[in-house]
Amino acid sequence: MESSYGNGFNLDRCISAFDRAARTLLGETVARRPSPAERVAEGNIDPAMRRQAAALMRVNHCGEICAQALYQGQALASSNEATKRALDKAADEESDHLAWSAERVKELGGRPSLLNPLWYAGSFALGYVAGRLGDDWNLGFLAETERQVEEHLQGHLERLGDRDTKTRAIVERMRGEEAEHRRTAERLGARELPDAARRAMRLAARLMTTLSYRI
Ligand SMILES: [Fe+2]
Ligand SMILES: [Fe+2]
Repeated sequence: MESSYGNGFNLDRCISAFDRAARTLLGETVARRPSPAERVAEGNIDPAMRRQAAALMRVNHCGEICAQALYQGQALASSNEATKRALDKAADEESDHLAWSAERVKELGGRPSLLNPLWYAGSFALGYVAGRLGDDWNLGFLAETERQVEEHLQGHLERLGDRDTKTRAIVERMRGEEAEHRRTAERLGARELPDAARRAMRLAARLMTTLSYRI
């Protein structure tokens, strides 16, 4: 039985959100699908390329931590069951992205960003606010996020070079699925965000990617 209070507050959903946050940040997310890198042979990469790839994958892992938090925040705030169900598939795929990128960071000899809890909290709050603004804005925010992630992953593919076949396989699959998430949000009635909001999101994303590349 679910415990609901006034204002749409739901204790069970809050507890499960906390539980999910802890598992996300502790690196306990297990992928439902095999990693796209699994059947790809390790490319011939030198130590400098390996270090760069580890840093880029740390950024992507951090992005996927944010995606978990955004989808969680939205699910907690949104009252439209149909939208929530439609976004579930995207949220499941984001969990796979999270696990795949964590695994690749480790293989490359890197470690996750130390600032992940901070990004999780910020993204959760943003997702929650977007969720409370109503479905059209909520979906608009999601579509714009996915669009920016897609562009960002394209930039990573250009920086990675051709030899790091395993990392490329993961980033390529993620880019394809982020594009699908954007199309899902658009199909469900995403509203176009004002220019100022899009710019603010780019700025926040740049701060996150710059810091998590290093820390
Ligand atoms: Fe993702
Ligand atoms: Fe996505």
